Amino acid sequence: MDTFEQLKNECMCCERCGLCATRHNLVFGVGNENADLMFIGEGPGEKEDLQGEPFVGPAGQLLDVMLKLIGLDRREVYIANIIKCRPPMNRDPNPEERSSCAEWLERQIALVDPKIIVCLGRISAVSLISSDFKITREHGTWFTIDGRDYIATYHPSALLRDESKRPDAFADFRMIHAAYRELKKNGGEK
Ligand code: URA
Repeated sequence: MDTFEQLKNECMCCERCGLCATRHNLVFGVGNENADLMFIGEGPGEKEDLQGEPFVGPAGQLLDVMLKLIGLDRREVYIANIIKCRPPMNRDPNPEERSSCAEWLERQIALVDPKIIVCLGRISAVSLISSDFKITREHGTWFTIDGRDYIATYHPSALLRDESKRPDAFADFRMIHAAYRELKKNGGEK
């Protein structure tokens, strides 16, 4: 089993796909390394690439607001992305980039060992829940995969572009919070 330190050091040197040539920083992950609740986005944007931390730009500010609305702070949960390096011009990560990066996330999930994983957006849900995932139809639905509970909701960037999706996303967050509260009540602490 890895330690966080080992995994992070190994990942920081990754040159498995072309994105290493254009990144400023590899964006590994942030938060509580023993969290029961893990949020997984798509990939770093411009601000994240410059700061080396996930969700610190406009989408991250909205994520912080949504977490706060359900009484959570980003330091209590763990936040990572499907891919660790910024795709140029924020394009969607391609299949080769996603598969090159998949092992890092698998090992990261094994280390954090969260009970609940929240996929932020379609790319994350397609990568982690099912390859034909439809975010409009299936957000807010629970899936159990390898003993963990997965749920997807809209990506905060989508909520910035289209405010009409926000009530659905907030309903998803309330469900996530209810499940998390239940877990804590039943002694989900590791
Ligand atoms: N969007 C993501 O999916 N991840 C980030 O870290 C920032 C924006």
